[in-house]
Amino acid sequence: MIRVLFVCLGNICRSPMAEAIFRKLVEEAGLGKQIVVDSAGTGDWHTGEVPHRGTQKILDHYSIDYAGIRARQIHSSDFSDSTYIIAMDTSNVRNLQQFGDTSNVTVMRLLDFVVEIQEKDVPDPWYTGDFEETYRLVRTGCEALLAFIQSQEHLQLT
Ligand code: 4NP
Repeated sequence: MIRVLFVCLGNICRSPMAEAIFRKLVEEAGLGKQIVVDSAGTGDWHTGEVPHRGTQKILDHYSIDYAGIRARQIHSSDFSDSTYIIAMDTSNVRNLQQFGDTSNVTVMRLLDFVVEIQEKDVPDPWYTGDFEETYRLVRTGCEALLAFIQSQEHLQLT
């Protein structure tokens, strides 16, 4: 089983958006039994909350299911349990490195998988208010991430 954990700061805007989008892509690819998707925040302020209204609205708009997603803070066990920890920006990576032992898990930024995009940080709509821009980048990143994992892990359809 491959475990993908998306991480941002609050776990209410970007990483739950990535979790919902990526889970849908995984299911569409017929890989739902082989890839487990989750998300967490480096901060604990929003623990237990549903995604931000702006994230809900954009996911509704694109008919992407986010039922059951609740914010939680990253835990040290996530570092041993995850195959890939995918951060939304460079500050998330820095926070992760302070939080736990990253030596046995692949930690990357989502946009590291998109060669055509130079700017590697997904803008935080908590501050920009632009959930559409964030959606476009997260979606592009998730498509590239899935292609990478499929080739890296030699995944077969079941
Ligand atoms: P996220 O956005 O990291 O994409 O979930 C944020 C959500 C909440 C806060 C900051 C960023 N906050 O400061 O509460």
